[in-house]
Amino acid sequence: MATTAFLGAPVEASDRPASYASILTEQTRPFDANAGPLELIRMATLAANSHNTQPWRFSLSEQRVTIAPDFQRRCPVVDPDDHHVWASLGCAAENIVQAAGALGYRATPQRSNSGDGQITLALERTQAKATPLLAAIVARQCTRSTYDGRAVAPPILDEITAAGTVGDSICKIITDRELIDSILELSTQGSGAQLRDPQFIDELTSWLRFSERDAVEARDGLFARCSGNPTMPGWIGRRLLPFVMTVASENDKLAKQIRSSSGLAVFAAKTNDPAGWIDAGRSYQRFALQSTMLGLRHAFVNQATEVATLRGQVAGVAGLGDRRPNMIVRFGMGAMMPRSLRRPTGAVVDFY
Ligand SMILES: Cc1cc2nc3c(=O)[nH]c(=O)nc-3n(C[C@H](O)[C@H](O)[C@H](O)COP(=O)(O)O)c2cc1C
Repeated sequence: MATTAFLGAPVEASDRPASYASILTEQTRPFDANAGPLELIRMATLAANSHNTQPWRFSLSEQRVTIAPDFQRRCPVVDPDDHHVWASLGCAAENIVQAAGALGYRATPQRSNSGDGQITLALERTQAKATPLLAAIVARQCTRSTYDGRAVAPPILDEITAAGTVGDSICKIITDRELIDSILELSTQGSGAQLRDPQFIDELTSWLRFSERDAVEARDGLFARCSGNPTMPGWIGRRLLPFVMTVASENDKLAKQIRSSSGLAVFAAKTNDPAGWIDAGRSYQRFALQSTMLGLRHAFVNQATEVATLRGQVAGVAGLGDRRPNMIVRFGMGAMMPRSLRRPTGAVVDFY
């Protein structure tokens, strides 16, 4: 594999450490400006992404980074229009925007009108300066636990709202308990509809990683421990799932999680198309980095945005007008959860 001084050290896909803990230590080490532009790709891969499928391919040159969708990693049942694929790419693009400054680049994402519509970030030379959100990239996680129910102070709410507002994409913060309960009601309806759909269950199960061994081998998907669940061999987990993941148990968990949260953030882009979905992903990622810097936890509760027939009601509760609610995130205070893994940088860069 060729490399140049510009790109820094090559990363081999096969160079992978053996244990979950050692992979994580390597994956989440602090940003290293001396490691060269490949560090931009490591930062990008740490972004949130739907089902942790990591539906992206990167390419890197001295002038630009491109992020293309990897449609082999799409989830056609929960995400038939690829909304989540594009939003995930937006999350990754925002991490590159935040990291580029520390390497002395300004990176501005633009979606191409041709081909797959990949995102191009032109790298323009500028004075090296780390952004305030950079340090949060390696610390951010989706924390799928119950929180402690405490309210977040208004100035902090203003800060996370501002961070989540990118261009034409908005971040609506909801702290009114009646409105939160209305979204909870829609979320339980959405979750019920999803759990009654065998295709939804099959798709979800294919991305669940029940054992640490499976998680380490795949380095993608949803590892049981990250959601507070016990680990077990995959074949046992797949057999037990229908008995433990019922509509009643999931709705009960959802109610506890949402009611223990300080509030909800609803993200809504101006346009209902891939360009808008990328913007919404960037909005979420900035909100998430800012929240992390402020010591807040957050997790997605997207059920009511994933069931198309419920979206209009979500928009009504959140006051979005005719915008599509792209994603719903709950936030609050609580302990961190185990982190999820990513595939190595070398496995997602096509050429450099
Ligand atoms: C567009 C999008 C949709 C998501 N939807 C959900 C969701 O409905 N429920 C959930 O628990 N997490 C959801 N996630 C979070 C991912 O599962 C999470 O980012 C991934 O597992 C990696 O974990 P991490 O963010 O803690 O690194 C979503 C993320 C994105 C970007």
